[in-house]
Amino acid sequence: MHHFSLPILLISILQWKLISSLPANCRNICGNIDIKYPFGIEEGCGAPMYRKMLNCSTNLFFLTPSGNYKVQSINYEKQTLTIYDPSMSTCTTLQPHHDFIMSEIQSVVIPPTPDTVFVLLNCSMDSPVLNHYKSLCFNFSGHSCDELYSSCSSFRVLHLVSSRYTHPYPYPPCCFTGYDTVKLMSMNILDCSHYTTVYNTDNLEGVGALDWSYGIELSYAVPNAGCRHCEQTGGTCGYDTETEVVLCLCSAPMNSTRDCGGGNLTSRGGEILASPILLRATVLILGVFLKGVSSLYN
Ligand SMILES: *[C@@H]1O[C@H](CO)[C@@H](O)[C@H](O)[C@H]1NC(C)=O
Ligand SMILES: *[C@@H]1O[C@H](CO)[C@@H](O)[C@H](O)[C@H]1NC(C)=O
Ligand SMILES: *[C@@H]1O[C@H](CO)[C@@H](O)[C@H](O)[C@H]1NC(C)=O
Ligand SMILES: *[C@@H]1O[C@H](CO)[C@@H](O)[C@H](O)[C@H]1NC(C)=O
Ligand SMILES: *[C@@H]1O[C@H](CO)[C@@H](O)[C@H](O)[C@H]1NC(C)=O
Repeated sequence: MHHFSLPILLISILQWKLISSLPANCRNICGNIDIKYPFGIEEGCGAPMYRKMLNCSTNLFFLTPSGNYKVQSINYEKQTLTIYDPSMSTCTTLQPHHDFIMSEIQSVVIPPTPDTVFVLLNCSMDSPVLNHYKSLCFNFSGHSCDELYSSCSSFRVLHLVSSRYTHPYPYPPCCFTGYDTVKLMSMNILDCSHYTTVYNTDNLEGVGALDWSYGIELSYAVPNAGCRHCEQTGGTCGYDTETEVVLCLCSAPMNSTRDCGGGNLTSRGGEILASPILLRATVLILGVFLKGVSSLYN
């Protein structure tokens, strides 16, 4: 088969398989956090590329392969979602490291923002970030990571127990780095006993480590082609749970693939408004899939 006809073929198959299993009403709030497009809690709500990424139990959680992280806030204007890992260290609590792992799709559609910094602490002298990958460490807004050993009660402990560090390292080695580094190397490879994450680092000039914002800010893409139109006509954006064909969920009398016929807009019916989204999502998923397949053979 000609290679780029596959997504087109998939879409044409999907177009024929409409509205089979529709979801219940879409919840628009979880705890005190508004849930809007492109997110959804229930299956069939929101954009299909964010399917199964959120869970609303006691609070809203962001689900990743390395665990469920509490969602602190979602900023729909900035298109960011802030999460917190309760098992990471901060300026006041010391906890052993574990990995932060996102799925392939997550690291493409909702990666950490560039001003989210991963702080690796108490690294061994053999750590790649002290040797071959030294260049992946940086300082931000006038802060160096050594500062955390003196200004945070938690990390001071690491310094005290590691008094063997003298020249050239008065403190146990540490590194400020970006998400790409932890994506590339697991915490075991990085060989640093603790880590924490800080976001909004561009605005932390002159701010002490105790007052930094600890957590991870994710920046998400919105596949908005057609959703605004659907909402303007009184619908809710969702998708068919079986085929992932994008749908405009209407209260009555029937659901549509385009709009709900309300407002001032006239329905042109029939047409799948979301083909560009679907195409992008399909290409993305295929890309990830093909990458997976090719890595099997390498
Ligand atoms: C979502 O939360 C509920 C309630 O805590 C839990 O039963 C369910 O397993 C969770 N789902 C996922 C996918 O983690
Ligand atoms: C700090 O790192 C060293 C290895 O470089 C390790 O032996 C030590 O246990 C670590 N300290 C803590 C408190 O985990
Ligand atoms: C960060 O700042 C410290 C202290 O000012 C300095 O010693 C260190 O070389 C700087 N590191 C980088 C990667 O710029
Ligand atoms: C339309 O979608 C809603 C919400 O998903 C569902 O409850 C309803 O049964 C659907 N209506 C029709 C006519 O398919
Ligand atoms: C519909 O038209 C009215 C008057 O022309 C306008 O005030 C209103 O904002 C429009 N509604 C939508 C959803 O476009």
